[in-house]
Amino acid sequence: MSDTNRKTVLSCIQPTGDMHLGNYFGAVKNWVALQDKYDCIYGVVDYHAMTMPYDVKKLKNSTWDIITNLAAVGVKTENLFVQSLVPEHAELGWIFNCFCGVGELMRMTQFKDKSQKQEEEKSNKFISVGLLDYPVLQTADILIYKADYVPVGKDQEQHLELSRNIAGKFNHQVGKEYFVLPEGLYTETPKIMSTADPMRKMSKSAGEKHYISVFGDAKRISKQIKSAVTDTGEPSDVMSPGVENLFRLLKASDDTENHMQLMDAYKDGNLRYGDLKVTVAEAIVKMTDQFKENKEKILADKKALKDQVKASSYEIRKKAQETLKEVKELVGLLNVRF
Ligand code: TRP
Repeated sequence: MSDTNRKTVLSCIQPTGDMHLGNYFGAVKNWVALQDKYDCIYGVVDYHAMTMPYDVKKLKNSTWDIITNLAAVGVKTENLFVQSLVPEHAELGWIFNCFCGVGELMRMTQFKDKSQKQEEEKSNKFISVGLLDYPVLQTADILIYKADYVPVGKDQEQHLELSRNIAGKFNHQVGKEYFVLPEGLYTETPKIMSTADPMRKMSKSAGEKHYISVFGDAKRISKQIKSAVTDTGEPSDVMSPGVENLFRLLKASDDTENHMQLMDAYKDGNLRYGDLKVTVAEAIVKMTDQFKENKEKILADKKALKDQVKASSYEIRKKAQETLKEVKELVGLLNVRF
């Protein structure tokens, strides 16, 4: 419920692929927790998903998929909206385009990385204006709700900084401290590595064996964890990345008891990696089984979920409309009601 003293938290996620343990422990679990303390608004940003070459036939399904997954792990549907159902984001994005320098966007490391990757793409080298403009739309996502805090990963720090710059430039130009400068909420979240190669981050793009799907088959999850790369068992003063990753997974799944015991065993030099793997696998499977059960219940009545998210998008849109109306006034656009 809305409480005027509560700060507003906003974050968004792109509707791409299924959710893996890296996404869940690294971001989404934190979204769920923040709901107790803040007024949270979470967006599924389908406009952003169009910035890279994509399959027009699949986008809609991906959007509903991620909504289902978010709901299954505990994100309240009343806090969720779909970006394209709130077209004011795009309109405010346009206005912000006029308060942002081309050079600023060209400097964004994510643009440089992604456009370079596209450049190397054999079949489709296309780099869209949308990709360059991506952070301006992101700025609109944040400022349209006058968010106080934006929980994001370090990789989004530069985009958040840009949103502060745009807000500042806007305020300066209209001669009013209209937008609050949003702050990042950098909660310590575990960085989950690939169990097949603990030197690289868990990610879908690296290939099948490099990520563990939250809604995947329990046997597969268990197998992936049990075959995790650890180390040769040679005595060493530092914990190997693979073992560290397993401990991190155990802690992240809130199995503190076992985490403590096994950590003690490790320190005493008598931890058997096999035991660690079995324990981690059990903790993760227990957690994911619950999520899968939740998902099945949700999928049993898809229409109810869709109706809920349409209704929440409608409610959230009212806030966006209010801001846009004020902004149009401030920048000298006509505010006419037809
Ligand atoms: N760029 C973010 C990411 O890739 C997604 C995003 C879009 C976002 N709009 C946002 C995150 C607004 C926070 C706030 O993770």
